[in-house]
Amino acid sequence: MTTSHPTPHAATTDITRAPAPTEQDGAMTIAVLGATGMVGSRVVAEARARGHRVLALARKPTSDDPCVTAVAVDAGDPRALRAALTGSAARLAADAVVVALRTEPVDQEFLVGATRAVLAIAGPLGVPVLVVGGAGALRSPANPQLLVADDPAYVPPAIRAVAAAGIAQLHACRADARGPWAYLCPPAQLNPGKRTGRYRRGTDTLLTDADGASWISVEDLSVAVLDEVENPGPERLFTVAAGPVEPSAG
Ligand SMILES: NC(=O)c1ccc[n+]([C@@H]2O[C@H](COP(=O)([O-])OP(=O)(O)OC[C@H]3O[C@@H](n4cnc5c(N)ncnc54)[C@H](OP(=O)(O)O)[C@@H]3O)[C@@H](O)[C@H]2O)c1
Repeated sequence: MTTSHPTPHAATTDITRAPAPTEQDGAMTIAVLGATGMVGSRVVAEARARGHRVLALARKPTSDDPCVTAVAVDAGDPRALRAALTGSAARLAADAVVVALRTEPVDQEFLVGATRAVLAIAGPLGVPVLVVGGAGALRSPANPQLLVADDPAYVPPAIRAVAAAGIAQLHACRADARGPWAYLCPPAQLNPGKRTGRYRRGTDTLLTDADGASWISVEDLSVAVLDEVENPGPERLFTVAAGPVEPSAG
């Protein structure tokens, strides 16, 4: 997505959370669907850095880490997904599920179907699902009546279908009342970068900085993902962005 003109800032909370739990004081088993992707691989790394166990789900995942179990699954196959996520008939192997799926080209039907399937498996067991979706579902900061997906300042025609698929994925979550879920909208720009451990958290409006840029590193987005998994916030739809910026020395 592209960024553009400076815009008013949405209300945010600056986040620097307490140290993560360790194996001794509350390690979880976290399933990451899309574990080989740009987002998923960094979510796995952040989870491991905090001492959690991971079920790494994708079509051909691999792992050298004994605390990361690679589980080959096609997310388009609900039965395979259930088998991958379920430790036994009665209990989910995972304490939480992170969905970080993407296809090229975009496939809205697949994305919505896989998300519904995860919610149907996890929800009745009370296992929380965190979906890493798209920025398009947020309100545009310059015009709250407009979704980012419909604002050409952020979403050019070439990626409108990607933004629309993310919104459909959010609708699928909202239509599901079986269990806890949250939908994390990244800012407009999400790229590999530095892990600072800091970020700003907002609700339903795209976050921008003083220059109008809307961005975060995937590493810091993954910090926000793990913070939410460990300590779920009050909102089902939320967003994050880089910051706050450290004051310069001197
Ligand atoms: N600014 C923004 O709004 C923004 C920017 C970037 C990303 N995102 C969002 O972040 C999320 C993750 O994106 P990403 O960039 O990390 O995507 P990615 O790098 O393309 O990774 C996609 C993941 O999905 C998995 N996957 C695809 N088809 C699958 C299938 N049939 N069965 C199982 N796994 C499958 C892939 O695994 P295999 O192909 O190995 O099976 C891979 O692990 C998406 O929702 C995306 O829209 C948002």
